[in-house]
Amino acid sequence: MNYYKAASKMAAYIILAIIITAIVVGVGVYYATRSSPQTITVTSPVPTTVQSPSQTTTTSPIQTTTTTGLPKEITFYTWWAGLEKFAIDKLISAFEQKYGIKVIKTAVPGGAGVNAKFAILALIMAGKPPAAFQVHASAEQISYFMSAPQHTNSFVDMTNIAKEIGLYSTPAANAAMLSGHLYALPVDIHRANLLYINIHVLKKYNLPIPKTLDQLIQDAKVLEQHGVPAFLQAGADQFTVAMLWTQIFLAVAGPTKYIEFMYGTLSPNDPSIQKATQIFLELVKTFPPNWMSLDWTSAVAALVKGEGAFVVDGDWVTGLIYNVYPKVVLSPVDNITSNTDIVVEPFPGTQGIYSLVIDCVMVPKGPQQQGGVLFAKFFASKQGQEIFNPYKGSIATYPDIPTSIYPTEAQKWEVKQYATAKAYVYALIHGGLFDDVWQKFLQSSILLAQTGNTQLWYNMIKWALQQEYKEWSESGMFMGSYEHPFAGYLPPWAKKS
Ligand code: GAL
Repeated sequence: MNYYKAASKMAAYIILAIIITAIVVGVGVYYATRSSPQTITVTSPVPTTVQSPSQTTTTSPIQTTTTTGLPKEITFYTWWAGLEKFAIDKLISAFEQKYGIKVIKTAVPGGAGVNAKFAILALIMAGKPPAAFQVHASAEQISYFMSAPQHTNSFVDMTNIAKEIGLYSTPAANAAMLSGHLYALPVDIHRANLLYINIHVLKKYNLPIPKTLDQLIQDAKVLEQHGVPAFLQAGADQFTVAMLWTQIFLAVAGPTKYIEFMYGTLSPNDPSIQKATQIFLELVKTFPPNWMSLDWTSAVAALVKGEGAFVVDGDWVTGLIYNVYPKVVLSPVDNITSNTDIVVEPFPGTQGIYSLVIDCVMVPKGPQQQGGVLFAKFFASKQGQEIFNPYKGSIATYPDIPTSIYPTEAQKWEVKQYATAKAYVYALIHGGLFDDVWQKFLQSSILLAQTGNTQLWYNMIKWALQQEYKEWSESGMFMGSYEHPFAGYLPPWAKKS
């Protein structure tokens, strides 16, 4: 395969990664000194009823396994830090208990991996990779191959391990394959095209729960006229602002063009790009004045307090609400009750589409490999996923896991939504874009929201599409397998050799 004409780009990555790693230390100190879950207090005017999902998810007892020749400790790199730590901490302690191996969790803060990805890239390029790390399905994995000395050979091919644990034949594992290989084991299924709504804010202004994009725009405009922020998108960690554009784009363009965006096969002149941008700029006007200082968790805090009506984000928000705001009643749109505080629904105009975000664990080859594989295998197993997913807000990748493991109605609803979806796409902002494209996309979405300069934005989109095409086609890879290409879409470079 003709992967790696990308050497000069990688040199740029190295410099970037070094800078980012330096920043990460500073960011880490900043986050470490921020409020912890225990210190968050929300004086919501709304929730009066205590939500009753049992905080006690029942999972099978962990049996201790004796292992020989394995390390005493391994390192795992992740961005599930701070208010997102609950699920990973449960999983790690179950693993430690079962195998007697200590997991040093290096949690680099910053939702969606805005800092962690570059810290991991830097370690890989420096030849000092961790035993295992968090990665998304899709192009993001190829960005790691491009930065590693032996490309795909620098990582453990997990295909056979997935077969061993009964994961291989699941649709999520198929989606996470690159040309029929699993280079990382999937541990959950998240959904990106969601709208979280504070129902009390809509009720106060007599507004309907929006079912179409037009209704959503209309609701936002009325709120704006009342001086109430509509969209609590977060500028500080950038990714939910970029997600807003991509969800509008999905609603306007439909699933096939969305997938073509990911592969760079879409024309930059496609009218849906302009249409989505115009709508995005309309909605940006309804952000709160402090949007640039919000991160995704503080945006959810503001939503819970009723400081705005909407948050466009993925279902890690469900996990955050469950773990941090247990009194808040979160309901799926088809099951709203008299005590509902927050409603979750598909982003209007994308009903029936499941925009997948699949978190996976990747294991670099090297001295820590054996421990890394053991950790990834446990994490991705049914037992591991039954521990992790209930607290994460996601659903497990095994379709036969009963919905009774999920503590929230929202997750049970998503199991059904996932099983009955008419179309699947892979989220651009959570793995679908190569790291260099992703970073520029995020920064440019902030600039677009701040300045309204569409020319810069269209130039960036044109470059992003070219770059996506180039990097995918040079890798020769595609999502899924020849037998089952992801979403039935086989890009032009996917030829069987
Ligand atoms: C996504 C990731 C989720 C969650 C979210 C917020 O990229 O897939 O598991 O961590 O970021 O940080």
